[in-house]
Amino acid sequence: MDYQAVLDEVAAHVEPQIGRGQVAQYIPALAEVDAHRFGMAVADVDGRVTGVGDWEMPFSVQSISKAFGLALVLAQDGEKIWRRVGREPSGNPFNSLVQLEYENGIPRNPFINAGALVVTDRLHSLTGDASTTMLDFLRAESGNSELAFDPAVAASESDHGDRNAALAHFMAGYGNLDNPVPTVLEHYFWQCSIEMSCRDLALAGTFLARHGLRADGSRLLSRREAKRVNAVMLTCGTYDAAGDFAYRVGLPGKSGVGGGIIAVIPGRCTLCVWSPGLDARGNSVAGVAALDHFTTLTGWSVF
Ligand code: DON
Repeated sequence: MDYQAVLDEVAAHVEPQIGRGQVAQYIPALAEVDAHRFGMAVADVDGRVTGVGDWEMPFSVQSISKAFGLALVLAQDGEKIWRRVGREPSGNPFNSLVQLEYENGIPRNPFINAGALVVTDRLHSLTGDASTTMLDFLRAESGNSELAFDPAVAASESDHGDRNAALAHFMAGYGNLDNPVPTVLEHYFWQCSIEMSCRDLALAGTFLARHGLRADGSRLLSRREAKRVNAVMLTCGTYDAAGDFAYRVGLPGKSGVGGGIIAVIPGRCTLCVWSPGLDARGNSVAGVAALDHFTTLTGWSVF
């Protein structure tokens, strides 16, 4: 497969969509990003990476971090996390509070904000430092030792973090957080603030295409666990748009309000696309279109 030719064609195809949608406003530091950026990268299972456009420009990973958090917790703690978080699509926005009360403080899945807070809480208990554990893992897998948190983004989200605080306090009320709410929120905001490029994220996600094997050949997840993470990404990774994402793209994917999306083609490669204009459900407009065109051109989807 000539990845460069495919990416060039994808970039040309989505050109009219770049800049459409809205850059995330509810985290003011993200609202300053130029909506007209577009980049895309493919990292194959041998670690070869190809890109187009702004593929080497760092952006805020935001909720893409939730996929790595789930993988790290499954790796250390096995299936115990499912006692505290479900794995069904929520059909609600990523920051919704509504299901938590009638489901007794157990979030629907690990990728809505409530579920990700539980996963961060568990990772913090297991490691003593959830956000640094994640940063170290992402540095190792991407081969980019310069990856860093963006303190301005973390502070901006913390200053406007009332909804996440509400979710966390509500779950604490049900006994579903082990660490103090401010600690969980801090580590969650820091993990979301990590800056990475499409290149970095595609490489960091290749363990999901390699059925759980890390970049250095060691095993992070069993084949079965890697299947599970990919399955939850497919069904829940793009929130209340997961059905439409499966319909259009047909791959496990995880989006973030920074405008990035990673997608996995098991056994072949991991993709990352970035364009900051979001649709109403918080997913990149040009990003979804690019992944849609990529799987159409290559015929590579899980279906
Ligand atoms: O907690 C939040 O709202 C953000 N840090 C992350 C949300 C997010 O990325 C949703 N994804 N599309």
